[in-house]
Amino acid sequence: MPLVTTTETGVPIQGPSATLIYDDWYPALRTDTLRRGKLATAMLLGIPLVVGRKSDGQLFAMRDSCPHRGIPLSVGWFDGKHVTCRYHGWEFEPCSGQCAVIPSLSSHDHLDATKIYATAYPCEERDGHAWVYIPSPGSGRLAPGAHPPVPELKKFGPRYRSAFLTADLPCNVDHGIIGLMDPAHGPFVHQAWWWRTRGSIREKTKRFEPIPEGFRMSAHAPSGNSAPYKLLGVYGQAVETTIDFVLPNRRTEVIRCGDKWFSSLTTVTPVTASTCRIDVVAAWNVFYHVPFVLPIAKFFGAKFVRQDQVTMIQQAEGLKHNPSLMLIDDADKPAKWYFALKQARLDGTGKHPMDGPAELHWRS
Ligand code: FES
Ligand SMILES: [Fe+2]
Repeated sequence: MPLVTTTETGVPIQGPSATLIYDDWYPALRTDTLRRGKLATAMLLGIPLVVGRKSDGQLFAMRDSCPHRGIPLSVGWFDGKHVTCRYHGWEFEPCSGQCAVIPSLSSHDHLDATKIYATAYPCEERDGHAWVYIPSPGSGRLAPGAHPPVPELKKFGPRYRSAFLTADLPCNVDHGIIGLMDPAHGPFVHQAWWWRTRGSIREKTKRFEPIPEGFRMSAHAPSGNSAPYKLLGVYGQAVETTIDFVLPNRRTEVIRCGDKWFSSLTTVTPVTASTCRIDVVAAWNVFYHVPFVLPIAKFFGAKFVRQDQVTMIQQAEGLKHNPSLMLIDDADKPAKWYFALKQARLDGTGKHPMDGPAELHWRS
């Protein structure tokens, strides 16, 4: 599916771009796509990456560009220890980016190859994703460990099933995120017998509270008008849902019912300044012993994400022409908080848009 559409003249047109948040972790790709001794590519925040796994198991992510003359390192060679540039054979240790060998150096040269570094980013594996830490442009090489911990899907026991979904979105990360948190689109975009219907729209009151760099929809009994939640009720105990949004792009949802739980981590990652990708990882121990629950959950999950994706593709058509937009209370209040939190991060003020718990009302 193309991320951008083209005009009749063949010139790609894209929607408006978003300001990007650096100095944070973003999921680059699924680690099950990495093959032994092979290099993979990904794009985060407009930065081309070459990603791989060393023979000792360590993941690495480098800017996919040789510091010598800029050819992508991904077209070179990888022996499990070093990445070798295909142009002049410079060899790099890919976790640090340190150059080990410059084959052209002669006994007359005094250049110390090990003083040269390709750009390497911190890269760690969590929940099947290679997460990459992207520092602000020009911030130099990071001291090891000089970054926050890698985001992780919450799990509440050793036995669980899990699933993963992804979809490219042709809009910028801001639209992806506010779409993700938008409570009012459900009955229209996700109309389905198994979720909810337009006829089931009713007034909702939800309590929110500020959390560091984000907000939490306080623990509540989930919508009684959606079938999956009704199903969870079969365990005969109170079902409680908590949904958090935390900068730069993470929505976590935890549903608990006694010792049964369902947990998901959804991220909207800027691929470029004007496009993004949504990734969902989920784990659960509900229906652990029931066969076919995993394929059924994947089927419905995929359908759900696909509905959002189709809507955002349609929205992107409109956004290409830079319309002026509006956010209304209370349904778009989470979107307003997101923009304010983001601005506070960009300005470094640390100012939180909420001065305490808040109650929002909408119909959905
Ligand atoms: S361009 Fe990579 S070694 Fe010259
Ligand atoms: Fe949605």
